Amino acid sequence: MGTMTIDGRKVEFTDEKNVLTVIRKAGINIPTLCYHSEVSTFGACRLCTVEDDRGRTFASCSEEPRDGMVIYTNSGKIKKYRKLVVELLLAAHCRDCTTCVKSGECVLQELAHRLGVHNIRFQNTREHYEIDDSSPSLIRDPNKCILCGDCVRACEELQGIGALNFAYRGTEAIVIPAFNKKIAETQCVNCGQCRVFCPTGAISIKTHMDEVWDALADPDVRVVAQIAPAVRVA
Ligand code: FES
Repeated sequence: MGTMTIDGRKVEFTDEKNVLTVIRKAGINIPTLCYHSEVSTFGACRLCTVEDDRGRTFASCSEEPRDGMVIYTNSGKIKKYRKLVVELLLAAHCRDCTTCVKSGECVLQELAHRLGVHNIRFQNTREHYEIDDSSPSLIRDPNKCILCGDCVRACEELQGIGALNFAYRGTEAIVIPAFNKKIAETQCVNCGQCRVFCPTGAISIKTHMDEVWDALADPDVRVVAQIAPAVRVA
């Protein structure tokens, strides 16, 4: 319990678990890609970064609020930083936005527009990954993955399945099923929570519904009996 100063305004907090929640409580909309209150905090995307009165920058989703804190959510430094983060994410992302099924509802695309990222100065050094369409319900395109880990945590923490996880490190880091399997070869139950949480087109729903229903009629395809309610909180 205490009071923080956010962009010059006093804001009281009680049991909010992080600075980001207090910022949102104050009605300030700062972008995030990897924070969801329903799953654990990962602190991967750094878009929620804010600056304090000593010039220190930190991810607001990963910092507990403290009485007397003074923070700025939209200083010149933060604006530049945020734009750079989006540019770097786009640099490691395939560029077929115009034909992507998520176009128009992709959070990364919307942020690029909102923050005015019109040029990408960096080369994409990631290798091209095969698209996995083995599932009866989902298509997984690792080339559009921004490694936010939202699908991993939703699958593990909300559904208790754990069909996806991180593999490799550095520029080779990727989210895939264990042992490089296809998604259809895992314990995936086709619930679609990963798609609900994915901010980009890395996981999409198959749109040819006839194929989906045919595939789901196959007795060997497992479908979750009790699907947790699909949730999506920005
Ligand atoms: Fe805080 Fe992604 S929302 S690091």
